[in-house]
Amino acid sequence: MNKLVGITRNFSSSATQNAIKTVTVIGGGLMGSGIAQVAAQAGQNVVLIDAYPEQLEKAQKSIQGNLTRVAKKQYKDDTGKIESFVKESFGRIQMSTKVEDGVKSDLIVEAIVEKLDVKQELFNKLDQLAPAHTILATNTSSISINEIGAGIKRKDRYGGLHFFNPVPVMRLLEVIKGDHISEETYQAMMAWGKSVGKTCITCKDTPGFVVNRLLGPYSAEALRMYERGDASKEDIDIGMKLGAGYPMGPFELADYTGLDTNKFALQVMYEKTGNPVFKPIPLLDRMVAEGKLGIKSGEGFYKYNKK
Ligand code: CAA
Ligand code: NAD
Repeated sequence: MNKLVGITRNFSSSATQNAIKTVTVIGGGLMGSGIAQVAAQAGQNVVLIDAYPEQLEKAQKSIQGNLTRVAKKQYKDDTGKIESFVKESFGRIQMSTKVEDGVKSDLIVEAIVEKLDVKQELFNKLDQLAPAHTILATNTSSISINEIGAGIKRKDRYGGLHFFNPVPVMRLLEVIKGDHISEETYQAMMAWGKSVGKTCITCKDTPGFVVNRLLGPYSAEALRMYERGDASKEDIDIGMKLGAGYPMGPFELADYTGLDTNKFALQVMYEKTGNPVFKPIPLLDRMVAEGKLGIKSGEGFYKYNKK
């Protein structure tokens, strides 16, 4: 593991012309490891932080594996180039279990557990510890970014950077504007998104932002269709892949994203909008209660070999 035994790297004391050159990602799970990877691949120095060392070990393996995929595509059979690409990119990532080790970066992206109070506590701490120029961002998929950042003072240097799973593959980044974000911060976030290879779109702080707000009703209606017995889950998946050109059907996607994540996102959108399309779905509630969360638990709508 690239451990942080005191950072020797030079962190800029102010973001020159607002360009983001150093990035800290907090949360080394599925999303955080992907975000750290794309930033390192783009030549940026990254600090990846997770509260649990075993999560950092997992992140290391997954980042190295995914960097190798990228390198193989780029350099075909040139093993020397593949190895040096992986080594150099991974070498730009430092890892630590302490938030204090990552507070000096130009940008800090939070990708920890989807719980409002835990996120608020982290942002309040970051606001106190980080230098004035540091931009803070959350990768939340369903919580209001204004609520997450309610306790911070630098509201002008705060926003949402919503990536999609799997981060190295999905080309979109939603840049979410909080109520008090400055134009300068917004432009710096858009430019950073581009620098890590993403196409950026902008959205206000609304429930589900753009993509999840539209995926929610689609996913909910698929679940209800299956619950009613209108069609099998296999046929619904085939239908959407072959009839609508989607890369995965709604049940494959729910298993991929996680049924607990799906349930939580629908719940938040129902609470915030009152739109009955987001109403709780008994089948989904039952599966989550039984621990059938999708790929990560080994079973969701389909069965998987647990990693
Ligand atoms: N890291 C790096 N590269 C990866 C990867 C990963 N984790 N997973 C797949 N890839 C690459 C592969 O190397 C392959 O590249 P090439 O085609 O250039 O060789 C390519 O992606 C396709 O992979 P596979 O052939 O293994 O598998 P696939 O064709 O079935 O694609 C998929 C896999 C990219 C996940 C595709 O099924 C897909 O796009 N699914 C939909 C995913 C989606 O909708 N994500 C958004 C979910 S919503 C969200 O994230 C927001 C939220 O808040 C919850
Ligand atoms: P995950 O469970 O894979 O990873 C979360 C990581 O955060 C874990 O490694 C955990 O150890 C760590 N963590 C938790 N609390 C922490 C703390 N206080 N300090 C440091 N580390 C802490 O979750 P994920 O799927 O990567 O999701 C992370 C965030 O990204 C969530 O807000 C989620 O809503 C959002 N998101 C998820 C997806 C998705 O498809 N999974 C897509 C877009 C956005």
